[in-house]
Amino acid sequence: MTSNETYNDDVVRLFLLAATVWGVIGMAVGVLVAAQLAWPALNFDIPWLTFSRLRPDHTLGVIFGFGGSALMGTCYYVVQRTGHTRLALEKLAKFTFWGWQLACVLAAVTVPLGITQSKEYAEPEWFVDILITIVWVAFGAVFFATLAKRRIKHIYVANWYYGAFIIAVALLHVVNNLALPATLTKSYPIYSGVVDAMVQWWYGHNAVAFFLTAGFLGMMYYFVPRQAQQPLWSYRFSIVNFWALISIYMWAGPHHLLYSSLPDWVQSVGSVFSLVLLMPSLGSAANGLMTFNGSWDKVRTDPAVKFMVVALVFYAASTFEGSMLSIKSLNSLSHNTDWTVAHVHSGAIGWVAMITIGSLYAMAPRALGRPQMYSIRAMNVHFWMHAAGLLLYVASMWTAGIVEGLMWRATSPDGTLVYSFLESLIAVKPFYLLRFLGGVLIVAGMGVMAWNMWHTAEHARARLIKAIPIPIPEPPPQYARSTT
Ligand code: HEM
Ligand code: HEM
Repeated sequence: MTSNETYNDDVVRLFLLAATVWGVIGMAVGVLVAAQLAWPALNFDIPWLTFSRLRPDHTLGVIFGFGGSALMGTCYYVVQRTGHTRLALEKLAKFTFWGWQLACVLAAVTVPLGITQSKEYAEPEWFVDILITIVWVAFGAVFFATLAKRRIKHIYVANWYYGAFIIAVALLHVVNNLALPATLTKSYPIYSGVVDAMVQWWYGHNAVAFFLTAGFLGMMYYFVPRQAQQPLWSYRFSIVNFWALISIYMWAGPHHLLYSSLPDWVQSVGSVFSLVLLMPSLGSAANGLMTFNGSWDKVRTDPAVKFMVVALVFYAASTFEGSMLSIKSLNSLSHNTDWTVAHVHSGAIGWVAMITIGSLYAMAPRALGRPQMYSIRAMNVHFWMHAAGLLLYVASMWTAGIVEGLMWRATSPDGTLVYSFLESLIAVKPFYLLRFLGGVLIVAGMGVMAWNMWHTAEHARARLIKAIPIPIPEPPPQYARSTT
């Protein structure tokens, strides 16, 4: 291995582009479905335009299109930098890009047409699932093969998280999607009844745990110290949190099925594990935030840092809220109300989107061979639009959720319900309008980001796919790993 070797950022740049495009599309569909809830006439009585069919397009677009592309792109970037090595199996890496995009497009097209397994976050039918499996195995092969040829002895903690994310998502995807195809467009799950529900929420919850959390923690553990220009506050603490997180999360799924026909003791196991989960969650958030000790001035000057700091605050807030919502008595108020939607989006728009945007802003100039993003002012504008939209979204949905919960459980002395369901819908309509406004701000901010990325890539655009050579530095001798 020679020191004049360069990193392979071609595929990283492609994923960067895809994440930006999917971010705009996925969130724009989110705004459309938010508008449909406020103005039902927007369903237009056209089957593929109805809320029920577009809602999964929103979730698939933001989680797998936007989040997935950002995770894969940053993963390839980080594993090369932390290992002082070039990406392994480069053609396979390119395949993971095109394969993943194809799977996302297929999912986005088939689900509104009514071709769906009707399993939340796992809607695509069996033929898309098989493609996802192949791409995912290829992704794992590229990641672990690159890790194996690293030139640094130690495996940096970000890679542990990325590794856990890859292995766990493979397991979840395969087990939850086991089905018997009846025709090209219809299959039947091998599970039924309460077992099907349990498997689905073991998947659903761990999609949150390993897709929306572990992967993004990998991003956080690399880009936060990078942007703070300081080492992680406590490296040892990050490892303790890693093992705690991955061993606890798997057992928390039943908190999605409280008061259901799932055996009571299984529900209690879910609640208890969810409460214990508070520790590694707050631990990672604290570790990230404390890393800025000594460089807090960067919050003023670097908008990428602004995104990261608010992301960590929302990671702490949404996980705290999640643990509380797992307590049965509180869940009886929040379940099926917009409080759940508020919790989801404080995690999704606050934590996931903000750590992604911050990391992409940190990575893009480096991967595009530019000294900095094209417009720092546009980054600041984006930050304020996103933050204002986020606050409007979660504050309105928290309020709507509590209003709904209280109205649904209100009974008169003779035991009859005080309010009809329709009355609760009318009561929350103003909050739906506020959520819509918040969404418009967030999508407009994503538009500003896309514009800024486009201009940052100006000089690199002609070579977007061809290599911009960034030399790999020699590892310091005390950390070097013999590859002979
Ligand atoms: C412009 C920003 C966004 C808007 C306006 C928006 C809007 C919506 C709406 C209206 C729903 C349906 C709620 C319901 O069924 O009552 C929804 C669901 C959902 N969204 Fe978003 N969203 C946005 C951003 C995001 C992002 C960035 C993510 C993930 C990274 C995300 C993940 C989800 C998930 C997982 C659900 C399903 C929630 C559940 O089942 O409780 N959203 N969103
Ligand atoms: C300690 C961590 C967390 C715990 C214990 C937790 C717990 C919960 C609970 C109890 C629910 C409500 C289930 C119901 O009543 O139906 C829920 C829903 C949800 N949470 Fe969390 N949560 C955590 C973190 C997060 C994070 C960080 C995100 C997003 C990035 C997230 C995304 C979701 C989603 C998407 C749902 C809705 C699922 C659905 O019904 O479709 N959670 N969570």
